[in-house]
Amino acid sequence: MYRSHTCGELRESHIGQEVTLAGWVQKTRDKGFMIWVDLRDRYGITQLIFDEERTSTALIKKAQGLGREFVIQVKGKVIERESKNDNLFTGGIEILVTELEILNSSLTPPFTIEDQTDGGEDVRMKYRYLDIRRNPVRNNLMFRHKVSMEVRKYLSDQGFIDVETPYLIKSTPEGARDFVVPSRMNAGQFYALPQSPQTFKQLLMVGGMDKYFQLVKCFRDEDLRADRQPEFTQIDCEMAFVEQEDILQVFEGLTRHLLKEVNGIEVKKFPRMTYDEAMCAYGNDKPDIRFGMKFKELNDLTKHRDFKVFNDAELVVGIVIPGGAAYTRKEIDALIDWVKRPQVGALGMVYIRCNDDGTFKSSVDKFYDQDDLYQIANATEAKIGDLICILSGEKNKVRAQLSALRMEVATRMGLRKPDEFAPLWVVDFPLLEWDDETQRYHAMHHPFTSPKPGQLELLDTNPGDVKANAYDLVLNGNEIGGGSIRIHDRRTQEKMFDYLGFTPEQAKAQFGFLMDAFQYGAPPHGGLAFGLDRLVAILGGQETIRDFIAFPKNNAGRDVMIDAPATIDETQLKELSIKLDFKP
Ligand code: AMO
Repeated sequence: MYRSHTCGELRESHIGQEVTLAGWVQKTRDKGFMIWVDLRDRYGITQLIFDEERTSTALIKKAQGLGREFVIQVKGKVIERESKNDNLFTGGIEILVTELEILNSSLTPPFTIEDQTDGGEDVRMKYRYLDIRRNPVRNNLMFRHKVSMEVRKYLSDQGFIDVETPYLIKSTPEGARDFVVPSRMNAGQFYALPQSPQTFKQLLMVGGMDKYFQLVKCFRDEDLRADRQPEFTQIDCEMAFVEQEDILQVFEGLTRHLLKEVNGIEVKKFPRMTYDEAMCAYGNDKPDIRFGMKFKELNDLTKHRDFKVFNDAELVVGIVIPGGAAYTRKEIDALIDWVKRPQVGALGMVYIRCNDDGTFKSSVDKFYDQDDLYQIANATEAKIGDLICILSGEKNKVRAQLSALRMEVATRMGLRKPDEFAPLWVVDFPLLEWDDETQRYHAMHHPFTSPKPGQLELLDTNPGDVKANAYDLVLNGNEIGGGSIRIHDRRTQEKMFDYLGFTPEQAKAQFGFLMDAFQYGAPPHGGLAFGLDRLVAILGGQETIRDFIAFPKNNAGRDVMIDAPATIDETQLKELSIKLDFKP
């Protein structure tokens, strides 16, 4: 038996007992005649004591040889501590050691294994196994475990069946690039790693599974951000014989269950907003509704004057920063510089200060008189002491820019509180999205999403206006899940592919299996997928998903610990019938 107790377990009630502990040396304090060692494992820290009067000289010598992160096993007696440490659960006791065995030595770790470590991101990623020994990382992984166990429990109790789907598949278009895997046995052919198990879960519905779920790895070769990893985990779900409302109910139930069990928070019915409403009021399809600062469109109130910038703009839109009139000129200029950064891309910003005496001071006083400014303040519901910020230009761009400003100001004002949760369903997404680069429409969610009843005919005349049976779950300004009611008949699916620019041959080659399946009694079905990493991070009060993944990739998509991706040797390339036309 390596240990009788863990390092987080012993209390004053154990005083007098003989125990065996095993763990890592967190730190040692050597006073010559007395040595203390903090012994650490996953469960906590227990103080060990070796002293001249009660311990043999040989044992003291051995203890003096211990270094940080040595793995040891000790036997000894639980005794009362002289100076107690109220910050530790085990702070009332210590172990008077009688036997010490060094199970393994350790090199000096490249950073301190403490909550506030001296190690930078790169070195911690390289030695991720050491980083995992630190409380913050370990706690995040344990938090993730708790969330995923609750998810499994809840869905299983609701009758969902966990079914595994393959990882070596054919490409499914979900908007990102595929990771591909060459096939040795089929020279010149490649598998793709799934961007999601979308087509398989639909086939499970054709197979009569009725309610499916899976906590599943998905792979997308896309640019990385704080909330994106090239491999990430979805809580993937599908249900047969359902309408949108059924799905929203089930997954609202799951989210409410998680908030209650994991965060101890009761949330009432989730609000819903259409995509169009979200874009108008927040400039964003995943609005953070923990705070206000809603958009107010101002074209009608500004166009009667001779301000060309506004008059030429497709959209003039403003937000109100509460208390912002107190900003100094320098602070306002800094805000203007912020929106002009290339990442935001605004050409400028007009502001109106609502002064204490009821007058207004704006950056466009030349064009708008006090009454004009009053009308704008009135429309935006600005109060004395507030600052109105106005952007103008092309509708989609301006909305994105003002949305970025709204989030930035809220962050600076501390309005994005990590322990406050504001879930929101965004519904009625457009079916299609115009892509400037390829000059054509793409499926906004994916090509298997059904249009709202009666809207299919609109495809030929007003494609941009067609609404889909698609929905997203947003939590604190993050898209944590999305899904749709699917097309389940061959004719509609063919029409959809045709519309998206697939030739009948291409559609058949890529998705013939799905359309064939639709001919054998496919039930109406729909589903959704949560991003588990995102969900866990947000429930954990953070937004960087890397911190909740045991072995994440860095921003360049590399695993710096195992040094991947890497070249492969000539023989392997040959076996795969791959010839590189450059030397890596
Ligand atoms: P979607 O593409 O919206 O839908 O993905 C579902 C959810 O997965 C999360 N997510 C990611 N998380 C981390 N890193 C990434 N690179 C990443 N990409 C997406 C998001 C997102 O909401 N098959 C459909 C679902 C369906 O229709 O049922 C799908 O994959 O939180």
